[in-house]
Amino acid sequence: MTNNPTETTKIHPNAKDFMPILGTDYIELYVSNSKQAAHFYKTAMGFRSLAYSGLETGNRETESFVLVQDKIRIVLTSPLKSGTEIGRHIDQHGDGVKVTALWVEDATYAYEEAIKRGATSYLKPTVEEDEHGKVVRSGIHAYGEVVHIFVERKAYQGAFLPGYRAWESDYQTTSVGLKYIDHMVGNVALGDMNKWVEFYERVLGFVQIKSFDDKDISTQYTALMSKVMSSGDGRIKFPINEPAPGLKKSQIDEYLEFYEGAGVQHIAVATDDIIKTVSELQARGIDFLKVPTTYYDVLEERVGKIDENIDALRKLGILVDRDDEGYLLQIFTKTIQARPTMFFEIIQRKGATSFGKGNFKALFEAIEREQALRGTL
Ligand code: FE2
Repeated sequence: MTNNPTETTKIHPNAKDFMPILGTDYIELYVSNSKQAAHFYKTAMGFRSLAYSGLETGNRETESFVLVQDKIRIVLTSPLKSGTEIGRHIDQHGDGVKVTALWVEDATYAYEEAIKRGATSYLKPTVEEDEHGKVVRSGIHAYGEVVHIFVERKAYQGAFLPGYRAWESDYQTTSVGLKYIDHMVGNVALGDMNKWVEFYERVLGFVQIKSFDDKDISTQYTALMSKVMSSGDGRIKFPINEPAPGLKKSQIDEYLEFYEGAGVQHIAVATDDIIKTVSELQARGIDFLKVPTTYYDVLEERVGKIDENIDALRKLGILVDRDDEGYLLQIFTKTIQARPTMFFEIIQRKGATSFGKGNFKALFEAIEREQALRGTL
């Protein structure tokens, strides 16, 4: 269900085709209060109620709310009692992403191929069934405590997965125009980036489409390194960051300290109209990072002619960057939970299929200003 538009679906010449992935199926976060988190995703982010699992469906262990906006599905799960694995995860990490589920044609085959290539098993192929059909899921471990679950749903017509029922809610908000997951970024410890780059190449057949070193991504005080891993058709992009030594504590170090380990740093969601989407999100109370307005004085010199009104971009703080194929517009939210860990990015692509490096400095200086306020720079 959740594939990206065809503009990013060129097959990369170095891609290995043993692991065809159709799209991101869902992202599951373990959170301390799933009911209130679901309200945030509906009210502030424009998601709709999709499915529910909890006491009313006979599940006495956990409560999960599933939300949808266009092709994006988010699952918010909390434990219903103490002493659980999910409770331990929340105690260690705070709210955060546990599962990135990948939609595949055959979840048994995907699992076997991944395990053959050295992945560690999280969930053996498991068939789940209800009156709407059957789903096969399997899973492997990734960085930190993140897991990838392969979902095969061609024989299923239910709201989400067996065990869930449709979540009918009288309260629905309107979409803010979020369409699909563009990329999802992981923060790993110093020295671990290449290990995970190699993991995605070997286990999922991904290719490295970009590499940014500490000279590309640095400010006066801090630096980081990043490599962008992509599925062969470009539908799934997983950049991996690691901190680089600097004069002060980088945002990656801050994340690793407060998340107490490696994990998902940000989820980038795509829109066709970033000015409209960001205006709407701001009106609903989402806080974004701001860059100095001088950023816009030399914008067209740097990225060339763009379709958007620069004053509108300046007012909202939207950044523009360029790669070989076109340009992209992007903006980061502030972190969205108690700990300074995960945030969202809103992105609109106008021809660019990867990433530029022109925005890093402006973005990371903006993050450092937030860190300074927290006393964690
Ligand atoms: Fe990003």
